[in-house]
Amino acid sequence: MKLVCYSSTLLEYGGDILASKGMKREKKLIQHGTCSVYQHSLSVAAMCLNIADTFHIKVSRRAMVRGALLHDYFLYDWHEPVLKNRIHGFTHPYIALKNAQKDFELGVIEKNMIKRHMFPLVPIPPKYREGVILCIADKICALSETITGISQKSDQRRQQKCRNF
Ligand SMILES: [Fe+2]
Ligand SMILES: [Fe+2]
Repeated sequence: MKLVCYSSTLLEYGGDILASKGMKREKKLIQHGTCSVYQHSLSVAAMCLNIADTFHIKVSRRAMVRGALLHDYFLYDWHEPVLKNRIHGFTHPYIALKNAQKDFELGVIEKNMIKRHMFPLVPIPPKYREGVILCIADKICALSETITGISQKSDQRRQQKCRNF
């Protein structure tokens, strides 16, 4: 993941988002494995740029970065065992959009990206290229973060066994 290569682009288009209170809150919320929602959102935004550049896809880089940074702006712990979290996969895009609209000025592309990023789980596809790229980038990052989390846990278990030996 070429996150470093894209740090200046992420700052240029999403500096205000990254410095916001909401994103500070995201640093404390876990997304997959041990990865925070903040780190996940950064990785997804960088992955979107990477995909667009690799396949020479014409996009609005500003809209794509901002939509990707805000796609999981739901701002609660979805791992808590409460009833509403059972349908988090279906509902969080709408909550993220509502929160993001409260805190930032959003264009049509960003709004649609956030609302439709759970396609195909939520079976309405995104309307713009930026949103299609986000759907792909989000799945790639989520899978990688989950696998890293599983491997970290099994490393910890192995180390614990070694200590107890
Ligand atoms: Fe999401
Ligand atoms: Fe995500």
